[in-house]
Amino acid sequence: MKPVKWGVLSTAAIGVNFVIPAMRKQPTCDVVAIASRDREKSEEIAGALGIAKAYGSYEALLADPEIEAIYNPLPNHLHVPWSIKAAEAGKHVLCEKPIGLDATEAETLLEARDRCGVLIQEAIMVRTHPQWLRVREIVRQGGFGGLQSIRSVLSYHILDPKNVRNRADIGGGGIYDIGFYPVTTSRFVFEKEPERVVALVEWDPVMKIDRLTSAILDFPGGQASFICGTQMVTYQRCEIFCSAARIEVTDPFGAPNNRPCRIVIDRGGDLFAGTTNYTEEAIDTIDQYGLQGELFSQAIRGAIPQPIPLEDAVANMRVIDALYRSARSGRWEPVG
Ligand SMILES: NC(=O)c1ccc[n+]([C@@H]2O[C@H](COP(=O)([O-])OP(=O)(O)OC[C@H]3O[C@@H](n4cnc5c(N)ncnc54)[C@H](OP(=O)(O)O)[C@@H]3O)[C@@H](O)[C@H]2O)c1
Repeated sequence: MKPVKWGVLSTAAIGVNFVIPAMRKQPTCDVVAIASRDREKSEEIAGALGIAKAYGSYEALLADPEIEAIYNPLPNHLHVPWSIKAAEAGKHVLCEKPIGLDATEAETLLEARDRCGVLIQEAIMVRTHPQWLRVREIVRQGGFGGLQSIRSVLSYHILDPKNVRNRADIGGGGIYDIGFYPVTTSRFVFEKEPERVVALVEWDPVMKIDRLTSAILDFPGGQASFICGTQMVTYQRCEIFCSAARIEVTDPFGAPNNRPCRIVIDRGGDLFAGTTNYTEEAIDTIDQYGLQGELFSQAIRGAIPQPIPLEDAVANMRVIDALYRSARSGRWEPVG
């Protein structure tokens, strides 16, 4: 299959350190250009990563007729505006998460996609990682009884006020940045939308971003809860509770690219005797960013359906909107 020619909007850390190196190893991805607001920066990164063209503005990259697809890892407030500009320039778009600042803004991408006849997808790499496909398969098979509850934690410790995550004016905040992951994976495993949510949020008094959240998502027939913290110890874990087993995903979101991931299946021990009943499955080592780029490129070539429809990103945004509404109202909020 002819490789897709990719251009990257900005020298964002996620692109430079993870996504571009991973995509360059894929057969259907050819990263040919990178742009920065600062030409020296794009030239330096292009040189270091072996990218042929460096542009000194995002507009110049979008005007390059050789480029077929754009990877957009700009700060959150620029996801929708620059994805629309890219679509209007005739480029397919893989846009970083969250897809926008709210569902109303995200919906404008649906119109742009249809009007411009391109593919647009949220870069939510966990959703095509084989470990999550396996978790959903186990739940679907129903051998451990019905799915009842999902519990997730994701946290890190970043105090730098200049970090995009800590800048309220450009879409910073913990729910946008990491609460996002438990929301998308819970929706993926339940295969439903939550009907209502509640979120208890602690706001950073100086940076005005949500730095600590405990949330519950009320799904038809089950519940999901999560904690996310941006000034906590770095940690990630997800546990999926069925009536006859607990399925633990030990690297649920930041899955490593240098060793297999593990899924632990705990059929329940004896609480009083202290016995356990665990088995483990190893998931072959993959780079989830490489796989994301490869699958989207194959979809551009028409070889496979688009892995994750844009409508899913809009639905995810509706849940995030409801979580922020609940954080402010102090009440359960309906989704949608
Ligand atoms: N999927 C994942 O695993 C994952 C992981 C981390 C982050 N992300 C997402 O990726 C995006 C970028 O995160 P990051 O940590 O890589 O950010 P970052 O390193 O701060 O990069 C953001 C880039 O955007 C450009 N930019 C344009 N306007 C800007 C403005 N007003 N303020 C700051 N930067 C501006 C800058 O590039 P130039 O100076 O070159 O123009 C900057 O390098 C976020 O949406 C985040 O949610 C996803």
